[in-house]
Amino acid sequence: MEELPRLYTELAEWWNLLSPPSHYAEEAEDLLSMLLPAVDPPPRTLLELGCGGGSLAFHLKGRLKLTLTDVSPQMLAVCRANNPECEHIAGDMRTLELGREFDLVLIHDAIMYAADPASVRAAIRTAYRHLRAGGAAAILPDFVKETFEPTTSTGGEDGPDGRGLRYLEWIWDPCPTDDTYEAAYAFLLRERDGTVRAESDRHRLGLFSRAAWLRWLEEAGFSAASRRDPWGREVFIARKL
Ligand SMILES: C[S@@+](CC[C@H](N)C(=O)[O-])C[C@H]1O[C@@H](n2cnc3c(N)ncnc32)[C@H](O)[C@@H]1O
Repeated sequence: MEELPRLYTELAEWWNLLSPPSHYAEEAEDLLSMLLPAVDPPPRTLLELGCGGGSLAFHLKGRLKLTLTDVSPQMLAVCRANNPECEHIAGDMRTLELGREFDLVLIHDAIMYAADPASVRAAIRTAYRHLRAGGAAAILPDFVKETFEPTTSTGGEDGPDGRGLRYLEWIWDPCPTDDTYEAAYAFLLRERDGTVRAESDRHRLGLFSRAAWLRWLEEAGFSAASRRDPWGREVFIARKL
């Protein structure tokens, strides 16, 4: 993996104005409807790798005991503020070693930062190591090769403290024959005193075929299948036998 994007370091304090918990309620319900019946006896604990600001976790914590991990201390601080009742641990999804097992492991929209096969396979092995026998991992890359579409989107929120953010996100694949795509961001950031500044950021993300994903999951020891969620995202559900 490369150096972390600015969004997850010096701009992390703006996360809740870009992608706050309120944006994740429906997605969390869909995930829970898949995850809760996936494990027998019913799951109680969940480890998230790459929890970001904990916007998704915010909607899972009422149903599961969460351990939230991320490689960025700045994002972990945002997550802690959004989810003070949860356990937080700094760590890289490729190498994390907690010496504990969970009923569920989740890697949501963080797995694309594994932009080469070795990083994806290392993250899958981390998930496997941290699951009890009979547990399940859910891995949700934003795209697999078969579902990739160039997109442009805009958004942003106003905070109660007078700060505001608006963004333009531009996603494209400069080289369809390799295993990556790009996302570029323009941010307008309004401070409490009303001053506005512009910032930009560029992310390089991994893009692999569905078959490669399933092969890597099986190779790690999982029994895996995939489905599309209502938003067109590929969801890999992998069971540790
Ligand atoms: C889009 S954000 C996740 C947002 C999250 N789903 C939420 O609900 O707020 C992606 C996160 O992946 C994290 N990340 C990137 N590479 C990582 C790695 N190697 N190990 C752990 N986390 C990583 C980034 O620091 C960032 O916080």
